Amino acid sequence: QTDGLASRPPMGWNSWNHFHRNVDDAAVRAQADAMVSSGMRDAGYVYVNIDDTWQGERDAQGNIQANSRFPDMKALADYVHSKGLKIGIYSSPGALTCAKFAGSLGHEVQDARTYAAWGMDYLKYDLCGLREQMKVAATPEEAHKIMFDAYIKMRDALKATGRPIVYSLCQYGNDAVWRWGTEVGGNLWRTTGDISDKYSSMEAIGFSQAGLAKFAGPGHWNDPDMLEVGNGGMNADEYRTHMSLWAILAAPLLAGNDLSTMTAETKAMLTNRDVIAVDQDAAGKQGDRAWVEGPLEIWVRQLADGSKAVGVFNRHPSPLTTTVDFKALGFTRAVKARDIWQGKDMGTISAPFTAKIPGHGVLFLKVSQ
Ligand code: GLA
Repeated sequence: QTDGLASRPPMGWNSWNHFHRNVDDAAVRAQADAMVSSGMRDAGYVYVNIDDTWQGERDAQGNIQANSRFPDMKALADYVHSKGLKIGIYSSPGALTCAKFAGSLGHEVQDARTYAAWGMDYLKYDLCGLREQMKVAATPEEAHKIMFDAYIKMRDALKATGRPIVYSLCQYGNDAVWRWGTEVGGNLWRTTGDISDKYSSMEAIGFSQAGLAKFAGPGHWNDPDMLEVGNGGMNADEYRTHMSLWAILAAPLLAGNDLSTMTAETKAMLTNRDVIAVDQDAAGKQGDRAWVEGPLEIWVRQLADGSKAVGVFNRHPSPLTTTVDFKALGFTRAVKARDIWQGKDMGTISAPFTAKIPGHGVLFLKVSQ
């Protein structure tokens, strides 16, 4: 992968979860504006990423053009850059993208040059259309090679532009992408299918990430998909679970809501400094599940300063009381804890600690000795 890129999990916004096909130049500018005025930029969010459906026809020379909803991509990129932000774009290694717009097959070098000329800083490269080619492969090994080679082709094309462009692989976790994502230059790779704005979807994705920690690190991250915080399909406890789990997972934090209309509560969740500090921790060590008892799970992430982020999750819909045994989590003496969502220091805790966790909610702690 390109050296020095994505040394922390990328943070920003992406158009797909809220706008789907209805994204246009004005919407992207409004998101960039809101990223600044809401304080999200200052909290660390930087990429403004256009997902599928921006593409138009190729010109006579084969250069990809944006469709009429994006009259001038270079001007849009300049605008986003003028706000102190970066901009991202989307394509597929197949002939068509997931939404059936033009993909990059056979035009990889040309497309990478176009993105660089527009000023793009990030590419999400979504397998989609290439699955047609993979289906006619004689063996699974041959199908894998088609995909692997396609990702390498775009890696090399991006590199050849000389512009640093974060390379985001999207192929839904197939073929255990975490094992070979770095080989094809990925700065991040999706580990699962698409998230939707429902607790059941977020929960199924988030809690299935156990065991993947060793594959992530600075420059190469597991991506359990974009945030749904603020889109309205989950309650506040569920969105806090979403943010906490993603932070423990060292996941990219790509907001997927409309930043220009978000509530104060959504803004507070997305910009919580302690949560972001866990996600962006300098050690770049992804956390993992440490303890489970029925619907109660404890996930722990080791942080650079020697402390640990501890998420006590309740996957049951009603509140449950549980006892957290810090000794069992690797602490040998009394601990000092901070309740991240309450923004409160809890002082020193010497005995096993009992807490009531809201249904689908979390107690998110920063714990040190
Ligand atoms: C796939 C991806 C999504 C989104 C859509 C766009 O489903 O996984 O994240 O990019 O394509 O069509």
